[in-house]
Amino acid sequence: MNQRLKEKIRAREAQICIIGLGYVGLPLAIACAHAGFSVIGIDNDKNKVDDINKGKTTNLDIDNDVLGTLITAGKIQAVSNFVHLNEMDVILVCVPTGLTKNFTPDLQHIQSVVTELSSKLRANQLICIESTVYPGTIEEIVIPALETSALRAEQDFYVCHSPERMDPGNEHFSTANIPKLVGGLGGGSLELGILFYSQIVPNVIPTSSLKVAELAKLHENSFRAVNIALVNELTLICDKVGVCVWDVLDAAFSKPFGIMPFYPGPGVGGHCIPVDPHYLEWTARELLSTTRLISAAGEINRNMPYFVREKIWRVCNVIHRVPSQSKILLVGMAYKKDTADYRESPALQLTELLLEDGVRVVYHDPFVPKVDTSSLHLTSAPLTKAEVEKADLVVITVDHSNIDYMWLVQTASKIVDTRDATRSIPNREKNVILL
Ligand SMILES: NC(=O)c1ccc[n+]([C@@H]2O[C@H](COP(=O)([O-])OP(=O)(O)OC[C@H]3O[C@@H](n4cnc5c(N)ncnc54)[C@H](O)[C@@H]3O)[C@@H](O)[C@H]2O)c1
Repeated sequence: MNQRLKEKIRAREAQICIIGLGYVGLPLAIACAHAGFSVIGIDNDKNKVDDINKGKTTNLDIDNDVLGTLITAGKIQAVSNFVHLNEMDVILVCVPTGLTKNFTPDLQHIQSVVTELSSKLRANQLICIESTVYPGTIEEIVIPALETSALRAEQDFYVCHSPERMDPGNEHFSTANIPKLVGGLGGGSLELGILFYSQIVPNVIPTSSLKVAELAKLHENSFRAVNIALVNELTLICDKVGVCVWDVLDAAFSKPFGIMPFYPGPGVGGHCIPVDPHYLEWTARELLSTTRLISAAGEINRNMPYFVREKIWRVCNVIHRVPSQSKILLVGMAYKKDTADYRESPALQLTELLLEDGVRVVYHDPFVPKVDTSSLHLTSAPLTKAEVEKADLVVITVDHSNIDYMWLVQTASKIVDTRDATRSIPNREKNVILL
């Protein structure tokens, strides 16, 4: 039955559909196109679709020229409707999965896509969920919804989970070279999933079930969350002891085994670390169990913007400024170095806290020209001498590589550096206070 689909995949004749053209979906579309496949990308954001079809994206990990060439060659086409779904052979779902305000999984985008898919499903399609989901989502939510089509999973169509593991801003690892986990509903799905992904990435790792793939992804991000919390907790202790946490970490990370570098900061952001561990937490709760370590890590990480605010208050005292009469320049609004993504960024929360204190907040981020959230509407100020000198205090919230930190340290009167971005600047202790 699926022999024809296998042949089409091997011959690069399989038509690929990617639903959700964001940080995950668009690089995946490019990887598929580079492997020789034709890709239709579906996104319900009409502006994004128009931009992509013009070869434009704000994703800094994507070269607009590369995207433009693939669009012009007809290898990638973006659309905002599902009309072509029936013609697709492999459908990869990369829509957002988040949290409700009570920290429970919010699968509304997956559910809406799956409803759309079930109305157009045909035999011999491979559906692969790339979005991060809690264990059991695919078997308990996705497959039953797809089977309302009267087609049967593993007999008529095939279902895999291949959680995306990308790391935005990472120069060494991208969609094309990160080992790809693939879990399948059964042997047929797994075989097709492995065959498909092997055309795109050099290293495909099968998992023994869908749930193993779902849980592996959640563990990877919980591992990061817990270790970041550990160094954030160390930061609070070092602050009390009066020792520089970065010196402690330099010393500790010189051990060649048994430890891995993780660094403190003003909090965690992005679409993974503040979200995914809560999927495990919620899963445990549903099963009348608990995740004590993950829950504690979340609490510690969420407290960091408050700690930075307190540190800022202390510095305001030293420079004889009342926070409510101060002007603070935040350098960095993205959630991490060298990305334009500011979703869940701790800099957003810090901005809100400082505004609550009556501080006049200005920000500069070379990658984030504007911030539009439900509560913040800001525009990045240029990083000029006049802007820096007008600020009572500069707070470095992200260590983007294209900021001239030497110049910043020479120009600003006082800096709170939450990322050790000024590490290589001589005599910085004169006006730089580290986290
Ligand atoms: N961003 C990362 O670094 C990263 C890394 C690994 C895994 N993930 C996971 O991958 C998934 C996608 O994340 P992302 O960062 O790419 O999100 P994103 O917000 O950047 O992109 C998702 C896209 O899906 C579109 N979309 C939403 N609902 C849709 C629908 N019903 N139909 C069509 N399009 C729809 C949105 O308009 C958006 O363009 C999430 O589950 C996330 O947790 C993200």
